[in-house]
Amino acid sequence: MPITVRDLRAFKERGERFVMLTAYDYPTARILEEAGIPVLLVGDSVGNNALGYETTIPVSMEEMLHHTKAVVRGTRSAMVVGDMPFMSYQASLEDGIRNAGRMLKEGGAQAVKFEGAMSDLAHALVDRGVPVMAHLGLTPQSVHAMGGYRVQGRTEQDAQRLVIEAESMAKAGAFAMVLEGIPSEVARQITESVEVPTIGIGAGPHCDGQVLVITDLLGMSDRRPAKFVKAYANLRQVIGEAVMAFRDDVATGAFPDEAHSYS
Ligand code: KIV
Repeated sequence: MPITVRDLRAFKERGERFVMLTAYDYPTARILEEAGIPVLLVGDSVGNNALGYETTIPVSMEEMLHHTKAVVRGTRSAMVVGDMPFMSYQASLEDGIRNAGRMLKEGGAQAVKFEGAMSDLAHALVDRGVPVMAHLGLTPQSVHAMGGYRVQGRTEQDAQRLVIEAESMAKAGAFAMVLEGIPSEVARQITESVEVPTIGIGAGPHCDGQVLVITDLLGMSDRRPAKFVKAYANLRQVIGEAVMAFRDDVATGAFPDEAHSYS
């Protein structure tokens, strides 16, 4: 049975913690699907994790659609959420509606995510049948405005602002919200004050679910990981060793042997 927005709400009601992971391509989507991961986020983090950009800012709508389609092709029952890239929704409500529509219609996603407390946009999308996942706190598309990737909501005033933003996004109809880079206590307060599930990344243990970027979880990145990242594997090393073993086998003539040749 495909996972729906109702299942995520039911997870929260039952107190069942769940995970979301980013995916950018078909083989990863297949693996995550087979592992029973309920929600796959085609994040605009594709920019700095798969496309070689410094930030998520250059990622285009066409790139997001390209990767979303690949992930959707690899998915049977997981919910696929397509991330709205920078300036695909900020310039006008019309832009946001048109591009969110493309994410569902062309990309095949079941829902969209966008950064910031744009409750008018959330309302307009939900009204038109587009499920919305909100994203509050540290919003990477605003890296220049924030003066770097900084933890948000550290002062009492900022924390209260975040709670109000979360409540306004829930009221506008968002079915879930990512809380990124905020103190654990602020995430706890938001999680207790909204009925929809919160999904944390660098937001401590009190959220209803947790999300990590897949390349961070698998230890594939060449960058120093953020404090909140836990790598569950070191694929960078595994892949490096595998390709060097292949190179050495070819150099010594050990590959291809008879078992890997046609007679
Ligand atoms: O783009 C992304 O991967 C995200 C997650 C960090 C939530 O927005």
